[in-house]
Amino acid sequence: MRMKNKDDIWILAIESSCDETAAAVVRNGRDVLSNVISSQIELHKLYGGVVPEIASRKHIEKINQVVEEALQGAGASFDDIDAIAVTYGPGLVGALLVGVAFAKALSFALGIPLVGVHHIEGHICANYIENKELEPPFLCLVVSGGHTHLVNVKGYGQYEILGRTRDDAAGEAFDKVARAIGLGYPGGPKIEELSKQGSPDAIPFPRAKVAGGQYDFSFSGLKSAVLNYINGCQMKKEPICRADVAASFQKAVIDVLVGHAMDAAQEFGVDKFSIAGGVASNATLREAMRQACEQRNIRFYNPSPIFCTDNAAMIGVAGYYDFINGKTHGWDLNAVPGLKLGESI
Ligand code: KG4
Ligand code: ZN
Repeated sequence: MRMKNKDDIWILAIESSCDETAAAVVRNGRDVLSNVISSQIELHKLYGGVVPEIASRKHIEKINQVVEEALQGAGASFDDIDAIAVTYGPGLVGALLVGVAFAKALSFALGIPLVGVHHIEGHICANYIENKELEPPFLCLVVSGGHTHLVNVKGYGQYEILGRTRDDAAGEAFDKVARAIGLGYPGGPKIEELSKQGSPDAIPFPRAKVAGGQYDFSFSGLKSAVLNYINGCQMKKEPICRADVAASFQKAVIDVLVGHAMDAAQEFGVDKFSIAGGVASNATLREAMRQACEQRNIRFYNPSPIFCTDNAAMIGVAGYYDFINGKTHGWDLNAVPGLKLGESI
């Protein structure tokens, strides 16, 4: 067992918003004592994407074991835990409900507070884990399978949305294009791998600008352009170089993400910029952001890939800051699939 200091705050966190059943123990907001992730990807691959009903059932099967492993891995017992943090939205409602019901039961049985956490806030807070000196204010680009948000992190728990996608999320675009060129699910890592053999300048895919929203994104036109390109080649019986399609598509996404991010950094005069979410594990995006920040004397932060994709450690970090700021929930906490984050400009 691990010794717990008198003033320590240990949070047991649970995440089940999509296809990962995850639990973690986080000490004092930034120290990850354990981080257990049970992924269902192999199962959903068979269907080319996440099947919500299957996801919920698998969460129910796994959650007990995952929480037990998280406690064991941390050298902790339930008596060491000060609060239970859980993702309550956004996400798949049936999947979220499993985590929320489990967390409520635990917090009731143990007689300790319950903290409902916003999934995107968790992604942003993943940056605090390996960068102990990072404090708000800073800007964060959140790019995942369900979300593309440019966020002004004004303080702990204080978020202003500067821009968001009007249609597909960045990760969703990766997944759809991957399917179109026969790479399977999840598409992001596969497109990244194949891109290494292709040229990013081979095909001039569009970089969309969105009318009336300087920092908003749109990826559905880009996805259509890729599909049209493939159809065009097939009609003309021309061979398709999948690596060139992957590399050119990836470059088009990254150009827009980095462009918007740097415009916002300039307007808001920030000296710190971070990225978060599953797509933030893309090495080409990380490198492009790092270089763009370096040129402008901005410190760039990114979580390790394991803290970019869905995990519970990030929920424990966000939950800690809510907890010490007195933001806890009652037994009426429900799963909210369309939960909003912060204010929008
Ligand atoms: O954050 P996440 O695990 O789940 C959501 O909250 O959505 O993100 C999953 C998304 C998927 O769309 C996946 O294709 C994408 O992140 N992704 C990537 C990479 N790794 C995961 N996209 C691009 N490059 C990657 N290396
Ligand atoms: Zn996520």
